[in-house]
Amino acid sequence: MSAPFSDQQELIDFLVNKGNGVTGLSQMGLSSLPQHFIQPPEARLALGAPNLLSQDSIPIIDASNWDHPNIGKSICEAAENWGFFQIINHGIPFEVLEGVKAAGHRFFELPVEERRKWIKENSPTHTVQLMTSLSPLAVKVLEWKDYLFHIYDSKDESSQLWPSVSKDQVLEYMKWVQPVIRKLLDILLKGLNVEEMDEAKKSSLMGTLMVNLIYYPKCPNPELTAGAGPHADISSITILLQDDVGGLYVRAPQGDGWIHVPPMKGALVINIGDILQIMSNGRYKSIEHRVIVNSKRNRISVPVFVNPSPDAVIGPLPQVVERGEKALYKQVVYSDYFNYFFSKGHEGKHTIEYAKI
Ligand code: OGA
Ligand code: NI
Repeated sequence: MSAPFSDQQELIDFLVNKGNGVTGLSQMGLSSLPQHFIQPPEARLALGAPNLLSQDSIPIIDASNWDHPNIGKSICEAAENWGFFQIINHGIPFEVLEGVKAAGHRFFELPVEERRKWIKENSPTHTVQLMTSLSPLAVKVLEWKDYLFHIYDSKDESSQLWPSVSKDQVLEYMKWVQPVIRKLLDILLKGLNVEEMDEAKKSSLMGTLMVNLIYYPKCPNPELTAGAGPHADISSITILLQDDVGGLYVRAPQGDGWIHVPPMKGALVINIGDILQIMSNGRYKSIEHRVIVNSKRNRISVPVFVNPSPDAVIGPLPQVVERGEKALYKQVVYSDYFNYFFSKGHEGKHTIEYAKI
């Protein structure tokens, strides 16, 4: 079947307003991709072009003994040199990881009548919302993904209203991931000579936790489109759980190649976001990454974005610049940074220019 949409408005109506998402489009069994998902040739990651694929791999860090100084050293070095690493033996039980991925499948396999109860207009709480693409109303080329977005607050009872097919597993995962986040941030701060996370730093580094169940459905022409275009995250750090399908690529430290992040059983992918790049005055790197989709399997990933509070003022930490280092970034209010990111498409490392001096 070819695409039955005559213009972008009709497609947006199907995807966004009627809540079908890319999931609904994929389920139609289209033989070719609607034009609005086709990336211009220069924006595609040509997997046939070997010069673009780096054989490097991001570090894998065994966190069995969090408190050992070598672990701290490896994590800080990975944050400086790669901006991305995987951790294994982090303490979250395997069943909890599998449980949240299965919950993602269950949600996106619901009939559309059930899924659409969670689009913005219908959701019973602003803390959960079903979305498609990134800012579909602001961009020209859509991304081949849907996601269930959650704002997590352990004290907020609105999570009672989240979808019953997935909420228990999402909440259980959040319970386990929080100590991992805290350990990572404590280690990264220590690497910047900050010995203690006070309330202000807590608000800047981990004031808001967001968790998405992302679904990248099977795609008829995966080479023409993007699951997520090149971007850097606007978090302090992101903790990503991925399944065994693969498709996440990270910018290589040298040159303009891309490195695949191979799925590893039980591992979590950690990356530094723009906020920690700003706070560390560029020492820790927020690296560009992208997702390609495939024609054979639906992929699930579960990122937890560890973000500042909306009203937090972000800038280079005094401990970093007090020894005469020149500040590269100015102070920005996080909600402004956040709104700026979502007002446009994924544009590589462009967002951070907003905070540059
Ligand atoms: C993101 C992201 C990667 C993935 O959501 O910001 O980069 O593998 N996701 O889904
Ligand atoms: Ni990302």
